[in-house]
Amino acid sequence: MPSLFDPIDLGAIRAPNRILMAPLTRGRADRDAVPTPIMAEYYAQRASAGLIISEATGISREGLGWPFAPGLWTDAQVQAWRPVTAAVHDAGGHIVAQLWHMGRQVHSSVIGGQPVSSSATATQGQAHTYEGKQDFETARPLTEDEFPRLLDDYARATEHALAAGFDGVQIHAANGYLIDQFLRDNANFRDDRYGGSVENRTRLLHEVASRVVSVAGAGRTSVRLSPNGESQGVDDSNPESLFVPAAKLLSDLGIGFLELREPGPDGTFGRTDVPRLSPQIRAAFRGALVLNSDYDTAADAQAALDSGVADAISFGRTFLANPDLPERLRTDAPLTPSNPRTWYSQGPEGYVDYPALSEREAA
Ligand SMILES: Cc1cc2nc3c(=O)[nH]c(=O)nc-3n(C[C@H](O)[C@H](O)[C@H](O)COP(=O)(O)O)c2cc1C
Repeated sequence: MPSLFDPIDLGAIRAPNRILMAPLTRGRADRDAVPTPIMAEYYAQRASAGLIISEATGISREGLGWPFAPGLWTDAQVQAWRPVTAAVHDAGGHIVAQLWHMGRQVHSSVIGGQPVSSSATATQGQAHTYEGKQDFETARPLTEDEFPRLLDDYARATEHALAAGFDGVQIHAANGYLIDQFLRDNANFRDDRYGGSVENRTRLLHEVASRVVSVAGAGRTSVRLSPNGESQGVDDSNPESLFVPAAKLLSDLGIGFLELREPGPDGTFGRTDVPRLSPQIRAAFRGALVLNSDYDTAADAQAALDSGVADAISFGRTFLANPDLPERLRTDAPLTPSNPRTWYSQGPEGYVDYPALSEREAA
């Protein structure tokens, strides 16, 4: 069985190890969703990851409601991403852009219009906005004639990602956002070609992935799913019957890798008793399979590789707080815990000041 420290081909991207950085929203862009210079420093510090999956990045104003998150729909955003990807490449790393449409998980005060989703539903709870937390609003169902425009938004964001120097893109189809709102049956009540049967509920995922593949190439396209358990109010009554065919259609498109966020019963970022589907998805998906959630030690991650289910592991909070994580795992060095208070705050604190081992020793 391969070691965590062996290289792997993630489609067209040759990763020097199997310790990936999971996508992490950090809110360090500006109000126009333009990346700021500090983001180059942050990502370059983490360039020893086999691959960095960027923070979720909006494909359009309609799709981006998270305060100070970055986008990829304007030229200013593309220009400002260039130094970020260049800094990662200069440090010997690779980075793909996670493409984000949040669907109903946004507030009109941020996106400037009514949220859209598969159906007229609202998430329970409150959205992050520039004016603090505000109640989620009922979404407007996307009409069939809007899908070409939505697919164009994904295509343009993909073109922009490549123009900005990213090595590829990841379609965010997890965690209860727009594509997940189409996939799972507690959020999708449509009676047209995009609702009802599994074939219909996976149609948007299929169309988006096909379109992105047509722009980036299959080897530079990946997808993230969260198949087991509720995510931000989105859930399914029969996840296996939905997500195994979804993985199969992505496999047929030949995408480079599929990443699964799969919390367990003791999860610390989502917790569920719904069993993980990675073994069944492994059997349905030919490309590289990346597993995520609560892998905090080299032994746990290596065990997932040894089981034959995972080809690589992505680390979220542990990478956030340990910029040199592969080196720490290799030498069994102590890990710094991440501080939730600065996950989404602005500025350098809790962002670029987590020390590497060498800096810690020097201090
Ligand atoms: C601060 C923070 C921001 C996150 N942002 C994203 C995101 O932008 N896109 C995404 O798919 N998941 C996001 N997640 C989920 C993580 O990618 C990951 O699934 C989760 O932290 C569990 O993995 P871990 O136990 O390795 O941290 C975020 C999690 C945290 C803690």
